[in-house]
Amino acid sequence: MTLANESAISPIRLRDYRRPAWTAHTVELDVDLGIDATEITSRLTLRHDAEQPVPLRLDGEGLELLAISLDGRVLAPAEYHYDNSTLEVTGARDGSVLETRVRVHPAANTALEGLYLSGPRETGFLLTQCEAEGFRHITFFPDRPDVLARFTVTLRADRKRFPVLLAGGNPDGSGELADGRHWARFVDPHPKPSYLFALVAGRLESIQRDYVTADGRQVKLVIWSEANVIDRCHYALDALERSMRWDERTYGRNYDLDVFHVVATHDFNMGAMENKGLNIFNAKYLLADPDSSTDEEYRAVEAVVAHEYFHNWTGNRVTCRDWFQLSLKEGLTVFREQQFSADMNSPPLKRIEDVSLLRRTQFPEDAGPLAHPVRPAEYREINNFYTATVYEKGSELVRMLAGRLGQDGFRRGTDLYFERHDGRAATIEDFLAALGDANGIDLMPYLAWYAQSGTPRLHAKGEYNAARREYKLTLSQQTRATPAQPEKLPVPIPVKLSLFDQHGKMLPLYLDGQPAETEKVVVVDQATQQFVFRDIPAPPIPSLLRGFSAPVVLECNYTPAELALLLIHDADGFNRWEAGQQLAILAFDDLHGTDGSSACKAWCDALAALFESPEIDDALLADLLTPPGEIEFADRQSEVDPAKIRAQRQDLQSRLAQRIGATALHDRYQALCADTSQQLDAASQAKRRLKRRVLELLALIDATQAHALAARQYEHAPGMTDRLAALGVLVRDRAPQAAAFLADFRQRYADNPLALDKWFTEQAKLPGDPALASVMALENDPAFTLKNPNRARALLGTFASANPSGFHRADGAGYRLLAERLAQLDALNPQIAARLATAFNGWQRLEPVRREAAHAALDKLAKCDGLSPNLSEIISNVLR
Ligand code: ARG
Ligand code: ZN
Repeated sequence: MTLANESAISPIRLRDYRRPAWTAHTVELDVDLGIDATEITSRLTLRHDAEQPVPLRLDGEGLELLAISLDGRVLAPAEYHYDNSTLEVTGARDGSVLETRVRVHPAANTALEGLYLSGPRETGFLLTQCEAEGFRHITFFPDRPDVLARFTVTLRADRKRFPVLLAGGNPDGSGELADGRHWARFVDPHPKPSYLFALVAGRLESIQRDYVTADGRQVKLVIWSEANVIDRCHYALDALERSMRWDERTYGRNYDLDVFHVVATHDFNMGAMENKGLNIFNAKYLLADPDSSTDEEYRAVEAVVAHEYFHNWTGNRVTCRDWFQLSLKEGLTVFREQQFSADMNSPPLKRIEDVSLLRRTQFPEDAGPLAHPVRPAEYREINNFYTATVYEKGSELVRMLAGRLGQDGFRRGTDLYFERHDGRAATIEDFLAALGDANGIDLMPYLAWYAQSGTPRLHAKGEYNAARREYKLTLSQQTRATPAQPEKLPVPIPVKLSLFDQHGKMLPLYLDGQPAETEKVVVVDQATQQFVFRDIPAPPIPSLLRGFSAPVVLECNYTPAELALLLIHDADGFNRWEAGQQLAILAFDDLHGTDGSSACKAWCDALAALFESPEIDDALLADLLTPPGEIEFADRQSEVDPAKIRAQRQDLQSRLAQRIGATALHDRYQALCADTSQQLDAASQAKRRLKRRVLELLALIDATQAHALAARQYEHAPGMTDRLAALGVLVRDRAPQAAAFLADFRQRYADNPLALDKWFTEQAKLPGDPALASVMALENDPAFTLKNPNRARALLGTFASANPSGFHRADGAGYRLLAERLAQLDALNPQIAARLATAFNGWQRLEPVRREAAHAALDKLAKCDGLSPNLSEIISNVLR
């Protein structure tokens, strides 16, 4: 399968990396802002690498070139050439100053890359998104992350229309101009790559706070948003302060400018962006208030605020040499955010959440046609590589390194990394070298993890020798072939383990003369290895990969009884949950026919016991009572029928609910309802989480009662967590009360786009065949638009990627709908179209009828004229 325009774009390869021949040392931008037309004057002081005698070439995408001069002299047409993506200039030398003036059209920019308008043209504001390659849509530049320059930015605009003018760096003066116009200048003392440039201009309100860094710098923290939502920014401001303190304490990192601006927008392709001194956020990850945000959303705001702030060191002060190294900043920053969130909340719950996300998003990616290494070897469109693999698997790799070095060793390593590479662009090798050198350890073997795609399978087999009182654990690893990599090598897999006796007690481990402990880490770096534990009195039960010590799939032939024992006794909260997940998988696998296999009985019995146990945390219990999701079950099958998976998973949960009993569920629900506080403390959040799970379980065995409770819960909900949980149950069950509450919600939040997104999302999750009609009806809602990424994701993204039984209809109508919308969306916003298209990942493993239908829809889409490079790359990869 080849696409019409595929061959036109040849891939960019890591192995072809060359230092830039031309760099810019300083950039002075003068931006004359207007909604329809903005003019940008740029003065670049150039540097030339004498060893690369090539003419000056600068990136510039679709710019209207108004003027160009070199060293003060206007260039004649013969002295430059611009083909709409590259500007070539003759006669430039080291130290030359190139001045250009260009015009761009923000209001017409629907791709939301470069300079664009957020909101209606009369009232909206202007902003930029430059990562990865948006700066070239604003002006000419060597738009690559290894070109670091000092930026001075002067903004000019009509004062009434654009009262607030912001750019990255420190403020450096402002004033009035003629005709009601004004100006503001910003100087960034830290050299930075162009992808970290940002500006914002418009009518915005702010809240602010003074902050003094650990090393004594006075900083103004300011959050900006449109006036109607500014009172929902306080939680983010608190989270920002917590993040800053945490990074000082944990990594010794201080903030380094006099101001830190954060801006919220409803029109954003991604979650948020770490522009130096001027972070820009999707409002979804900045605004929070009890009436319209769930507990989960509060945690997400805290996490994303921290993530972007942490980038100031891991990303901005030390940046990436090229985009292949993206995980250098993203994997490390996700890891730092995960540590922070664990510290602020509950470590085991955070780990469960992160591993669930990895399994739901990254494992399927790594198992299908879109598989790529954490450091890809090639790409066509870099925006397609902001993936779960680069982010989430990348974070798991950093976690393994951190685990290997221990807390103090990892800190020594990051200190050296910052010391060596501050103000520079670095590589993954640089990172491993710094961590290793600071600890006298060679970490280069871990490079294999960065280069190899696919999830390793770790097979474990234990043998007990009663005569010798020895337990021999054989661990072998194997990684399946992925599209570009038929051969796989072993990688170093740290396996944290304990052994339990039959009563659920941990045994002391005697291994090769090492001191006895109840928990050890062994590293499997060959295809097969054996570990012998001495003085073991009876056959033990191994608890392996504790805390999910490596991103692998563990294959171990546990009996249901062994898993049940770990589920009851394992002191590692994560592994206790994991034992339950594995037991649920066994139960799922031999559910049919029999009225309760032994695995199902063991799972239900163990959970019923834990349900009554007073010592278990409410939130952990809620997670224990949740089996793996439909996507995780599908990931384990070779011929996927999503309808069947859903039915079977529902069946599994019904049996659990039966075993616990309607009365016990009902009583627990009532007990949890007694607490009506809307506090965000862990205990209150945990109660709401468990309440929701209990209600969902009850709905499986006594729908009438559960729906009545849900209706009451909706009506009396003190906040969004309870309101949305109740609505979700009613909508998914298509309860008689659903329509009225949906109408209520629609009206109540008519002016709150983020809450309205949830209204679309809940309905896009409708299970089974009815989902399609629901989605098509919602497309006709006046509030629906493909132009807003959050809205498109809420409806179409949820339907296609988070509702397997709804999307994967046997008649293929779900595929056809998505394919049609992708073609429309692609014309507006290629990044979002490409992202939504990844829902087709895994189509090859569908059962034959669905597979054919998906293939036909994809094929038709692939043949459309004029698809963007973004969407073409995803479609052609998914088809391979
Ligand atoms: N660096 C941003 C982050 O914090 C993501 C920006 C990605 N942008 C894009 N167009 N791909 O993760
Ligand atoms: Zn990031």
